[in-house]
Amino acid sequence: MNTRYLSQPLSDDERSDLLFKGDVAVFTRVPAMKALIRFTDSMLRYYLDGNNPVTAHQDMLPGTFLNRIGAAQRDIHNSDEAKSLFFGVLRQCGTDLDDTFYDHFVLRVVPCHPSFEGAWNSAIGHHRDTWGSNIYCQQNWWAPIYGLEPGRSIALYPDYWRRPLANTSSKWSFKEFLSQRSAAPKNTRCAYPSVPQPTEPVDETNRISMDVSPGDVLCFSSAHLHASRINRTREIRYSIEMRTVNRLDLLEGRRLRMWTIPARSRCMAGLKA
Ligand SMILES: [Fe+2]
Repeated sequence: MNTRYLSQPLSDDERSDLLFKGDVAVFTRVPAMKALIRFTDSMLRYYLDGNNPVTAHQDMLPGTFLNRIGAAQRDIHNSDEAKSLFFGVLRQCGTDLDDTFYDHFVLRVVPCHPSFEGAWNSAIGHHRDTWGSNIYCQQNWWAPIYGLEPGRSIALYPDYWRRPLANTSSKWSFKEFLSQRSAAPKNTRCAYPSVPQPTEPVDETNRISMDVSPGDVLCFSSAHLHASRINRTREIRYSIEMRTVNRLDLLEGRRLRMWTIPARSRCMAGLKA
């Protein structure tokens, strides 16, 4: 797996070629990210009573933080403005939006202290998104809102690009996840996992903690094995993410060639153009 740091856009075709070979792209200093970071930062400060979002754990009780952050995550998830700003980012990375299906827009929050964990979308363990969606031309977009250090970045596992990893996808159910999530207390994570999970240990030897700065956008295939780093730094991580599917990739059955255990459930039934 090579990481390609790019200062120019890639066409959908070029990007798919790169990702489905097993490489990943980091679009650097994407101008439209500035407005999206500003929008997200001001929303977070509003919900966190003006506290600095990355150190809010020093000023707030865990329950209060989780409630407020859950409300912020919901608001961003439902915000047409946030989505529209992110579409501007995708456009500047070279995506043809007329040929793009997309999933939800997510603000992920990874606290740096165990008592603050449990937000709606928080740290997530090793997985390939394809385990849950079963869409093999799906692509992931990921961007930090504030500065990162390796200990709170997203981790990718290049050794697993062509290496199988046993997992729970044959039993995992998206329907069950939705049902348990809606029954969970407001703004908290339910016990049922949001994606299938590995059933064997993951070799961490060649883990890569991605070096991505605010303003940059990481793009990788949904088949890349990835995970949130367990954050034991001094700051909370905030990142935004979205999954897309290109229409032509879908029609042509374009996809990576790799070994994986087929998933039974589909979770992108709600894809919207
Ligand atoms: Fe993921």
